[in-house]
Amino acid sequence: MAETVGLLGCGVIGGGWAARFLLHGFDVRLYDPASDAEGLAGEVLENARRAYRRLTLAPLPAEGSLTVVASAEEAAAGVAFVQESAPEREELKRELLAAASRAAGPDVVIASSTSGLLPSHLQADMERPERFTVGHPFNPVYLLPLVEVCGGERTAPETLERAAALYRRLGMRPLVLRREVDAFVADRLLEALWREALWLVADDVATVAEVDDAIRFGAGLRWAVMGTFLTYRIAGGTAGMRHFMEQFGPALALPWTRLTDVPELTEELLDRLVAQSDEQAGGRSLRELERLRDDCLVSVMQALRTHDFGAGAVLAEHERALFAAAPDGSGAAADEAPLRLHTAVVAPEWIDYNGHAHESRYLQVFGDTTDALLRHIGLDLGGGSSYYTVETHLSHLGQARAEERLHTTTQLLGHDEKRLHVFHSLYRAGDEALLATAEQMLLHVDTRAERVAPAAPELLARVERIAAAHADLPRPDRAGRAIGTR
Ligand SMILES: NC(=O)c1ccc[n+]([C@@H]2O[C@H](COP(=O)([O-])OP(=O)(O)OC[C@H]3O[C@@H](n4cnc5c(N)ncnc54)[C@H](O)[C@@H]3O)[C@@H](O)[C@H]2O)c1
Repeated sequence: MAETVGLLGCGVIGGGWAARFLLHGFDVRLYDPASDAEGLAGEVLENARRAYRRLTLAPLPAEGSLTVVASAEEAAAGVAFVQESAPEREELKRELLAAASRAAGPDVVIASSTSGLLPSHLQADMERPERFTVGHPFNPVYLLPLVEVCGGERTAPETLERAAALYRRLGMRPLVLRREVDAFVADRLLEALWREALWLVADDVATVAEVDDAIRFGAGLRWAVMGTFLTYRIAGGTAGMRHFMEQFGPALALPWTRLTDVPELTEELLDRLVAQSDEQAGGRSLRELERLRDDCLVSVMQALRTHDFGAGAVLAEHERALFAAAPDGSGAAADEAPLRLHTAVVAPEWIDYNGHAHESRYLQVFGDTTDALLRHIGLDLGGGSSYYTVETHLSHLGQARAEERLHTTTQLLGHDEKRLHVFHSLYRAGDEALLATAEQMLLHVDTRAERVAPAAPELLARVERIAAAHADLPRPDRAGRAIGTR
């Protein structure tokens, strides 16, 4: 049975939490006094689904269900975890957290998304405050992995560990703070930058677009990869950080920055910020901008994954966990005849100018089916051995349209110690129309030696079992076909 979490508040951040939890198979009980909480959560979830379809081919668990409830107590009663994301007002949060603590089970971890309020203050009125922590995420919560975990004076160390473990299950990268501090680590950095950015606009040095350009064409690109300290370690050349500090350390004393001075937020400055940011948005709606942001974030994370670095390493790790947790990944599923190992939904971006899925997507689905087969026979994808596809014959028989659900079947036609000869069929769920077939030959490869090699005995034993189960299946009509005009 799915685990249930309670969420308090469903704005920008609470909606993002709801999407991340739902996509990872948790049921969500949500409390927000605003009347359109469900609609907002639905919109964010739509963006999140779209982002995950592009982000990963790893099998997410079946989506959880969302229930909107009428009070904080109802959201917290009987759940496994509570995350509060109400407006950033200490009194309001203290009240909510206290109410949740009275309703939740005694060991349930209760976290707050606060951007900077001190956890010691927030936990002050709670029952059993030792299970309270800050879990400070970043927008969009469903996509960015960082969550700062910070306990207060009365937080038990194991609360931080338990919160971090749960966030990891959601594909996040918890940063557990060494001690309690206003605004934690990330917002202290961001606030310094934000203050300077406002000064530059207030002093008419730059427009908001120019400030953004100064970030996104330079340091911003580098930050996702190297952060700030590793950047400067490299900038110090072979002599490293000491050399860098000798060269640029003295400049820190120059009055370049406004330090903690804050520009007065006059009506005139606010008008300027609003007008310039609206112009920067170029008439695009909020959702359009969010989708552009998400698409680019997905691309960056995928690029980092190819280098197994930074947020890409977190994504790769999460994908391994998702594959391992998927029912087919256990290798324990029954050897049905034929096997049913893979399902997919036709994503809108698969659709070409003809209004149905582009031909390459059929091969993608069959490739994913082959991966599912390899996991099914117990192959450790990414380990020292693999099967490589050396030949595919694909027949396109029907059209797949956006949002249609697909499933595939796999029949083992032949095998020996180095080869698998398989026949996949792709069906549309509902009317079970056959949309495509693919016949493939796979060769077992020792990936370290980069040579074809016999598969390990345990893999072969599994293949034998499937072959026995498939022995009586009729040979598919299209098996062995060649292309011709007669
Ligand atoms: N926006 C960000 O980028 C960001 C990033 C990280 C953390 N945070 C933190 O997350 C929290 C929420 O911020 P947000 O940006 O989502 O704000 P928001 O204004 O978008 O959403 C707040 C939501 O809380 C609801 N709410 C009001 N009173 C409530 C109550 N008594 N109980 C439950 N819900 C209530 C509101 O109806 C609203 O939907 C704040 O603590 C903020 O500091 C924000």
